[in-house]
Amino acid sequence: MKPPSLCLLLLLLATAVSSQPAPSPDGSADPPASLFEELGPKEKFGDTFGNPDDFKKQLPNDIGTPEFVSSDLSDFVEKSTGTLHKEEEEARPPLPVDEWKGKWELFTDNSGVSAMHMILIPNVDKVLMYDATIWRISKILLPNGQCRILNEATGEKDCWAHSVLMDINTAKLFPLELKTDTWCSSGGLLVDGNLISTGGFQGGANTVRYLDMCPTCNWREYPSALSAPRWYSTQAQLADGRMIVIGGRAAPSFEYIPQEGKSNAKPFFFDFLKQTTDPDENNLYPFVFLSPDKNVFVFANNRSVLLNPDTNTVVKEFPVLPGGHRNYPASGMAVLLPLEVKSPEPNAVVDAEVLVCGGSAHIDSYTLASKDMFYEALQDCGRLQITKPRPNWRRELMPTARIMGDMVIISHKL
Ligand SMILES: *[C@@H]1O[C@H](CO)[C@@H](O)[C@H](O)[C@H]1NC(C)=O
Repeated sequence: MKPPSLCLLLLLLATAVSSQPAPSPDGSADPPASLFEELGPKEKFGDTFGNPDDFKKQLPNDIGTPEFVSSDLSDFVEKSTGTLHKEEEEARPPLPVDEWKGKWELFTDNSGVSAMHMILIPNVDKVLMYDATIWRISKILLPNGQCRILNEATGEKDCWAHSVLMDINTAKLFPLELKTDTWCSSGGLLVDGNLISTGGFQGGANTVRYLDMCPTCNWREYPSALSAPRWYSTQAQLADGRMIVIGGRAAPSFEYIPQEGKSNAKPFFFDFLKQTTDPDENNLYPFVFLSPDKNVFVFANNRSVLLNPDTNTVVKEFPVLPGGHRNYPASGMAVLLPLEVKSPEPNAVVDAEVLVCGGSAHIDSYTLASKDMFYEALQDCGRLQITKPRPNWRRELMPTARIMGDMVIISHKL
């Protein structure tokens, strides 16, 4: 059983979202130092993003998850991985055990922070892990007695690190200072291997953060770089090396990550995201993939389009994927299937296919879940050949229904 995600909890904490402070004009120099102080360490607690003190309240047990008693657990274990009944055991072919090259081992019993986000940073043999900052607690202190000052008047401070690099050979932890909140942020590696992180909660919502691939590198944060608050948005790399950031709560728009230190004046309005917003949203963390034709495939709720990142216009809308709602909080999952390059010609068309699975058939599944009523999740997947002139979705079924899952391409067919 999957623990409730922090993002899911946040939906309960959050009230309506309003716009963020006005961004700096485009092309301005470094954001003024006062912006750092205002938007960064102090984090605008008490604003319309929700009351940060709500996290101290006792929340109902595991939102979206029925009370779990120990007898359920043994059932669950038995059904999934545990002891099989004798007949079943005999009927089941043996696992190809000698093909397994690895085994699980406990690498370290303290990762310092909770790895809400985790990525292997190329060339430095370190894994980056980061959590939200709002909880103000972790298992590792900031180095050299540093603290984030949360409230100058009361002297309230937070001396915990919310981000660490972990050496993958020795498990040694290197705490990093993260000033702006990365809760439900987006991010990705640049072509040069450095990391860019975007958006997040409250003062982190308009932030762009950089972490370079070097053993002693630390975060560089620009809290006013993005023109719209990006909370539950998706970041993707484009063919020309730019990064696009799409959507987010109450942000039906997209923008490109500006040059480091610069701020975007305004985002590009994206009506598609406005149109796909349900009362329960169902279009957050849109599924975004770069198509081999250099357009950007964007899937939200039950619809999808190709966006041209040079003209900033929608060049194609695909048929609706019937069956339900596929994005957060009705979170299904999606992958771009492996591309097959059939011709050595550099300009030859490479076909691309997207697979979207799971989610919820019901528009109000989140609202009902918060009242302890649960629909069955969706069991179906749709495949779409996004580079074909007039493709349609082809449906198939997973062995079980899934919501809040994840998909990853593995290296070979099992
Ligand atoms: C797609 O989702 C919208 C709600 O956002 C719903 O009104 C519409 O009926 C859905 N379309 C299909 C074909 O399921």
